Amino acid sequence: MNTRQQVLTYLEAHRDSPISGQKLADDLNLSRNAIWKAIQSLRQEGYVIESAPNLGYRLADSSDWLHEATIRKNLSSLFDDWDLECFKTIDSTNTQAKAYANNGQSRRPKIFISEEQTLGRGRVGRPFFSPAQTGLYMTICLFPNSSLEDMSLMTAATAVAVAKAIESVTTLPVGIKWVNDIYMGGKKIAGILTEAVTDLESQEVVALIIGIGLNVYPPKEELPEELRSVVGSIFEGKSADFSRNQLAVNILNEWMSLYHQLDAKTVLEDYRQRSIVLGKEVTVIQGNREFQAFARSINDQGHLIVEDHDQQQHELSYGEVSIRNFL
Ligand code: BTN
Repeated sequence: MNTRQQVLTYLEAHRDSPISGQKLADDLNLSRNAIWKAIQSLRQEGYVIESAPNLGYRLADSSDWLHEATIRKNLSSLFDDWDLECFKTIDSTNTQAKAYANNGQSRRPKIFISEEQTLGRGRVGRPFFSPAQTGLYMTICLFPNSSLEDMSLMTAATAVAVAKAIESVTTLPVGIKWVNDIYMGGKKIAGILTEAVTDLESQEVVALIIGIGLNVYPPKEELPEELRSVVGSIFEGKSADFSRNQLAVNILNEWMSLYHQLDAKTVLEDYRQRSIVLGKEVTVIQGNREFQAFARSINDQGHLIVEDHDQQQHELSYGEVSIRNFL
């Protein structure tokens, strides 16, 4: 860790009260001058560090940057043997996680988190708009050594974990649009992209890569035209009394508790309860094929059962649905 990171980690861990320059220098075994330089460099980077005469430095509450030490401090101990890395900017946390998994040098599970993505990826090859400071983009990369089939529940479990974590901080209802879009107030506020690295010979999943993208606040830059009517954010125009670091912790802890005791019945019950498609007229989109249908149920494999206008039932294991009438 360089001096700047050491100072930041210390300030993150002592947000409650100001710390004098002398105490920082003593505790970190650095010179006062090195501390001062690190503080200036952090401020230049955008961190808001308050300083009061005779009291010292404090990281302002408005300084909501995603930070490893802050997240790590509140993570469940089940993550103790996991790596965690936060980036200011990255092409895509899923792309980096894939490169990490393919590189094969380490089989330690790892979480990648970024403030911004320059090439964020969504499902079916779509880009995922990932502007800085207003979202949360993270990828959980694990090495499960099991079949792809065993892993089919993971997407549903992740959607449930994300929904529960958001509910716990907003106390507002969160919906899931099959397969894995997360909705609040009729707008998409998060998406999940699950990818796998498989061994062609054994057909086993070597690595499972679960990317979660959340719009926490409205973006500072304008949303692309085509997204304006469909995309929202968890906090529309309101300021939150919790940080994105805490939100990341809540999601990861919820996810871990579901993963640790993966129980299909409970996961699917929680999933169905939040489904915003069941009982609705939907348009099913599978590649180039589109048809209107009624969404009947979600079976024990997480597949959507729909009935078309000829009373024909279809079991959908992939694809997308759009809802014609949200109410
Ligand atoms: C979708 O809604 O189509 C899925 C969006 C998934 C976006 C997340 S953000 C973190 C991770 N990195 C990516 O490039 N994509 C996923």
